Amino acid sequence: MNIAATNIILSQNDIQNCLERLANQLRQAYTQEDNVVAIVLLEGARRFAADLIKEWDRKIPLYFLRAKSYGNDVQSSGLVEITTSDRLLPDLTGKRVLLIDDIYDTGLTLRAVLDYLAPLQPADIKTCILLEKHHPHARKIPIDFLGATVPNTFVVGYGLDYAGKYRELDDIVELEGM
Ligand code: IMP
Ligand code: MG
Repeated sequence: MNIAATNIILSQNDIQNCLERLANQLRQAYTQEDNVVAIVLLEGARRFAADLIKEWDRKIPLYFLRAKSYGNDVQSSGLVEITTSDRLLPDLTGKRVLLIDDIYDTGLTLRAVLDYLAPLQPADIKTCILLEKHHPHARKIPIDFLGATVPNTFVVGYGLDYAGKYRELDDIVELEGM
């Protein structure tokens, strides 16, 4: 499996434009009085979330959840495992949760995480997702803030990996041979 270096889906410049647009939308959606907490899905959304919050220029607490369904495969296993061991979540009662993830593919991950968070009684949960794949999703999830829509191929870079590789690329590129 190789990186199709020519097939850049989103360049650094495109990503920066997404970040600026999303940051503007977030500024409009939340007032300074809102008690916002960001919950970031590891590992894929770490870089996106860090850049986005910097662009937003607002100090909000970041918490992390690990949600895994992929293993080394490019297809969802259908089972989503959630762990909070990295850092426990705070009391979310009455807080406005901004759930940040890298990509909405089948929707199984987001569904599982939303079902996990809802009983913790936040005031509301909004989803902020860098990429959405084109195809019909197994679980339909409302996406409140979306970076970009991408073709139904496997993409890597800017935090997204294939079997732990290619996360550090600055562009988002298509993985060849999928
Ligand atoms: P879903 O549960 O199928 O929506 O998958 C969501 C998760 O799978 C994302 O948070 C990613 O971690 C991973 N994923 C899905 N598609 C891709 C891809 O094209 N590249 C890298 N990771 C992906
Ligand atoms: Mg993920």
